[in-house]
Amino acid sequence: MPGQAEPTRDEPLGLSSDRSSGWLRRLAPLVRARQGRFAAALVASGLGVLAAIAIPAVVGRAVDQALPTPTNPAPASTIGPFVVLVLALGALRALCGFVARDGLARVAFGIEYDLRALLYQHLSRQSFSFYDRVQTGQLVSRANADVRSVQMYLAYAPALLVTTASFAVAIVLMMRVHIGLTVLAVAPLPGVYLLGVRLRKELFPLSWVVQAHLAEIASVVDENVTGTRVVKAFAAESRQIALLERAALRLRWASLRQFDTRARFGPLMENLPRLGLALVLLYGGVLAIDGRVSIGDLVAFSSYVVMLQAPFRSLGFLFMLSQRAAASAQRIYEVLDTEPEIVDPPDAVDLRQPRGDVELRQVHFAYPGRDVPVLRGVDLHLAPGETVALVGRTGAGKSSVARLLTRFYDVDAGAVLVDGRDVRSLTLASLRSAVGVVVDEPFLFSDTLFANIAYGRPDASFDDVRRAAAAAGAADFITSLPEGYDTVVGERGYTLSGGQRQRVAIARTLLVDPAVLVLDDATSAVDAHREEEIHEALRTLMAGRTTLVIAHRLSTIALADRVVLLAGGRAVADGTHHELLGTEPRYAEVLSSLPDGRSPVAP
Ligand SMILES: Nc1ncnc2c1ncn2[C@@H]1O[C@H](COP(=O)(O)OP(=O)(O)O)[C@@H](O)[C@H]1O
Ligand SMILES: [Mg+2]
Repeated sequence: MPGQAEPTRDEPLGLSSDRSSGWLRRLAPLVRARQGRFAAALVASGLGVLAAIAIPAVVGRAVDQALPTPTNPAPASTIGPFVVLVLALGALRALCGFVARDGLARVAFGIEYDLRALLYQHLSRQSFSFYDRVQTGQLVSRANADVRSVQMYLAYAPALLVTTASFAVAIVLMMRVHIGLTVLAVAPLPGVYLLGVRLRKELFPLSWVVQAHLAEIASVVDENVTGTRVVKAFAAESRQIALLERAALRLRWASLRQFDTRARFGPLMENLPRLGLALVLLYGGVLAIDGRVSIGDLVAFSSYVVMLQAPFRSLGFLFMLSQRAAASAQRIYEVLDTEPEIVDPPDAVDLRQPRGDVELRQVHFAYPGRDVPVLRGVDLHLAPGETVALVGRTGAGKSSVARLLTRFYDVDAGAVLVDGRDVRSLTLASLRSAVGVVVDEPFLFSDTLFANIAYGRPDASFDDVRRAAAAAGAADFITSLPEGYDTVVGERGYTLSGGQRQRVAIARTLLVDPAVLVLDDATSAVDAHREEEIHEALRTLMAGRTTLVIAHRLSTIALADRVVLLAGGRAVADGTHHELLGTEPRYAEVLSSLPDGRSPVAP
């Protein structure tokens, strides 16, 4: 077998970029990478079917040899060679079946792997605006199901097509025996095919309905479990149970309909082949008595009649699989063809040893697909090493400014500059390692604390991580845990408090040591009592770098050298806390809305 080494690439193969060609053609490069194995599997599949077709012919011959006829009254009594031949054909058939199935499965699973890798790679390159548009949960489950359905088609379709084609050989063999008998034998086949199509047509929508109801029940249960505190707090258990009951009733209805349909079609599907067999035996028996066909031919014939039904029955299934796979492939391609909006320009340069000079110059910005501008001409300058607090009402656009600094989105007009260079001229990797962001609800992976802190620098030594944790004020609580830095956190591990997560996130950013730091809401998840500790960590973090802190507390503003007030999409005031208090009524107003800002005195 022209065996091909299992692909051990890190980079998955690409698809054909010709978007106008059919879905299978676009997959061609993935198949071509495995063409040796694919061809071998197809050849084996064909050989296996031919062996299967040969067996009844040999048996028929053996019967004719063993039975006395008028022309051959004393038949040779030994049918030993036929037995050996049948056994050999049987073994060949089994071997070919194995090689074909194994080969096709490997090809199909290999392509599934490539598609998954392509999809994941592509999704991880997508810009924020893509994730604003699509629902990620749906995206993930849809992508999984779509890749599966393409894989299923690729695993079954080629063998089934080869089988169907090879049966042409059987039909030729049959016609050489007796044309009329052959016509009678294949007559029920269209019926078998149509019945298969009808069955799928009735079952397929039902299986969707069942799937949908299952998903509905799963989401009711899931919401009950994750939202159990809310459910209990409002004593809404019985309402939730009623909800589940209704969903379960709908599922029962759909499942019963599904079984009902199966029960109606099942016996028909099973007995149509027997009807064909009965017809062949009836007419064939008459022909045999007249001596127009031999008993052996009749034996072979009746085997073929049964054998032919199987692929015909599955042909309808194949068409359904192919329709589903085509739709799935279209959806996969749709994602793969979505170009990320924010990419490195061709002549991108690396930002080397950034000083940390940050400037927004007449920045206008609206979220993609939204008409309402969020920023309408923001001017803002942070000198290297300076700490500036950005203050504004909820929805004023503070977080949006932070997202523009790391080029999660691009400005509509104006420019964001780091060290005097437009961020759109820099490589994303160098920009994002120069500008670190700590958000208020930091995401921690279900991994050890060590891995979470070292996330931005996976090669960091234990000492580096410990130093970063110490500077972030996280070292004490981490060492007090029984497993210390090896403690697994997140969904499947230890639950950290908001303040602890915050400190882990600060340690993570400290370790990367960015020249520019953006703190969004960095202390909102912390009670006032813990705040002082966090502020200690923040001071360490800010030392020696440019910091833009989005302040949601008066006490956070105290960390800054200067305050900028954002209102109406512009930076409307810029100065020290005391200056703004004296000159800008809107500043005092915003301050009074902060949780600790009831009495806007000097912090
Ligand atoms: N991903 C997004 N897509 C569309 N609109 C958004 C998105 N994020 C925020 N907005 C809108 O942009 C405005 C500014 O939001 P944001 O910058 O988060 O304000 P702030 O941080 O000052 O509270 C709000 O009106 C908000 O609804
Ligand atoms: Mg915000």
